[in-house]
Amino acid sequence: MSPRIAVYPGSFDPIHNGHLDIVSRLGALFDEVVIAVLQNEEKRPLFSVAEREEMIREVVGERSGFRVESFSGLLVDFARQLGARTIVRGLRAVSDFEYEFQMALMNRRLSPEIETVFMMPREEYTYLSSRLVKEVFALGGSLDGLVPAQVLARLRERFVQGTGGAGAR
Ligand code: PNS
Repeated sequence: MSPRIAVYPGSFDPIHNGHLDIVSRLGALFDEVVIAVLQNEEKRPLFSVAEREEMIREVVGERSGFRVESFSGLLVDFARQLGARTIVRGLRAVSDFEYEFQMALMNRRLSPEIETVFMMPREEYTYLSSRLVKEVFALGGSLDGLVPAQVLARLRERFVQGTGGAGAR
């Protein structure tokens, strides 16, 4: 039987505990999971693709079956190259639904053999987004329990350097 490969794509700018909650659920469902960072410099991310990949590797660690890659172009093309039949997206609240629904159906039209699967993070992370992580940090609020220590350290470094920026969830 061929391995069950899933791709978990996103901006991950930066990765937070809601993403990690999904990652921890994926291990039980798939043989291989590729966490795929979108190369989206036009969105003016706070962290470069290389930094985002590095942070994810640091916090996901050496779990077997997981790897981190970046991609540009169509997600379905990248999934096909990987041999992945499943795209995983986190669904936090009804507000996510419309965007996710459009993406899932467009991806299905582009590549009918690839299925999108939605997973819910733990309730305490349903309001969490990378955008809020950056905003709360920039304004001096606590991110206790919301991001891993490695990400907090990177945020400190970045804001001490005096850069800022908008970004995705
Ligand atoms: O974390 P995000 O920013 O919500 O992730 C969005 C992502 C990376 C899943 C989406 O922007 C994407 O798949 N981009 C790749 C380009 C693509 O395939 N576009 C058509 C999808 S309908």
